[in-house]
Amino acid sequence: MDIFRTKSVEQSIRDTEAPEHQLRKRLTATDLTVFGIGVIVGTGIFVLTGQVAKELAGPAVAVSFVVAAVVCGLAALCYAEFASTIPVAGSAYTFAFATLGEFPAWVIGWDLILELALAAAVVAVGWSGYFASMLASIGLELPSAIAGDDPVVNVPAILIVAILTAVLAAGIKLSSRVNLILVITKIAVVLLVIVAGLFFVKAANYTPFIPDPVATPRVEGLNAPLIQLLFGVTPVAFGVIGIFSAAAIVFFAFIGFDIVATAAEETIEPQRDVPRGIIGSLAICTVLYVAVSLVVVGMQRYDRLSTSAPLSDAFTSVGYPWLATIISVGALAGLTTVVLVLLLGQTRVLFAMCRDGLLPRWLAQVSPRFGTPARLTVIVGVVTMILAGFVSFGELAELVNIGTLFAFMIVSIGVIVLRRTRPDLPRGFRAPLVPVLPILSVLACLYLMLNLPAMTWLRFVVWMILGVLVYLGFGYWHSRIMARR
Ligand code: ALA
Repeated sequence: MDIFRTKSVEQSIRDTEAPEHQLRKRLTATDLTVFGIGVIVGTGIFVLTGQVAKELAGPAVAVSFVVAAVVCGLAALCYAEFASTIPVAGSAYTFAFATLGEFPAWVIGWDLILELALAAAVVAVGWSGYFASMLASIGLELPSAIAGDDPVVNVPAILIVAILTAVLAAGIKLSSRVNLILVITKIAVVLLVIVAGLFFVKAANYTPFIPDPVATPRVEGLNAPLIQLLFGVTPVAFGVIGIFSAAAIVFFAFIGFDIVATAAEETIEPQRDVPRGIIGSLAICTVLYVAVSLVVVGMQRYDRLSTSAPLSDAFTSVGYPWLATIISVGALAGLTTVVLVLLLGQTRVLFAMCRDGLLPRWLAQVSPRFGTPARLTVIVGVVTMILAGFVSFGELAELVNIGTLFAFMIVSIGVIVLRRTRPDLPRGFRAPLVPVLPILSVLACLYLMLNLPAMTWLRFVVWMILGVLVYLGFGYWHSRIMARR
């Protein structure tokens, strides 16, 4: 049984050249950076900032953003090298298939479901928080059972996923102009928070900058970060330790730069421009995040921040509800594109897996009426709706993070492997200091993963075991590599 059979880089590129699968090449580095910022800036900054400042890090949440950015920066350099070498849609799944073999590729593909579909659900929940906050600021309170901090079923989140699924299945393209307007709105709102917020910052809110460590229900039992359990310390929130636990969660805010790699196939000069797009969008977002988090914890004491719409609620707290309304509207527009792209990314990765025969090929049939993989889109949509409607927000985000960090690790290892196995391939961008840098990237990702709750690890391991069973029961036997032999 050869579970490490690879699909050659040339074969991956050839698959994309079949006329019926060819994507138009028209994107530039600027397009990619805008696309990147459009996917990256979302629930992480608009929602999680409040939650982790309140529960784990205090005002030092800004430091957590820097820690997460460094981890992402290392991985981004590895993604950049890969995407410039194998400019094929499918991201980490394709990279792994070309280097490590079919089984690792399957593992990544299965794992990416945790990143993409789950993240779409998390962002939909964030959308719902801002929707409720916006309605509240114009005097319409939604019942707490269907929206807000801890609803029984999150109705607005379900509705937004349903609408976007329909948009995707019907193949309605958000023109790049609409996308650009939404991204500009979102960035304008982020800048508004920074600039307007500065006027309300009180120095007293920054002390203590790193609150003293405390044992709280947030970190009891299986909720404790694995690293704290492993080292047998009494699990605590806040303190220096809390900064790292928070970093493992706000990591979510950076997810998306890896999705820029999926647009490589549509880029005019992928070798040069994909690395620029990936690294550029990550750098811009880092600066914005650190600024926003510093301002927000300066406006309102960290323990009073709202956990469902902290940016807009901070303005309500200082007596400017109309600014809060503007921020909510901008956040809604911005979060919509994030959900859309994540759902699209999920469908594309699953599509690639079905095309390779690792999942039933009929699932990925393109609907003759709409010209999209409508069946797959609807399945992804329905699963995401269920998750967004019923699962707790924090738990979902942590699971997304562990899945994504795992993908980053495999991509970093892949860079080292591909340098050894295919030194001949032209590389538009070479990550510096290989193999030291990718090894550091693997260790950094692992460290953040260890800072996630033990419960998240348990869920992750169960999901991956399920994936292995599906591969051994189905994927291995139906793989197209098998048919080609
Ligand atoms: N980075 C994206 C967000 O924060 C997924 O919503």
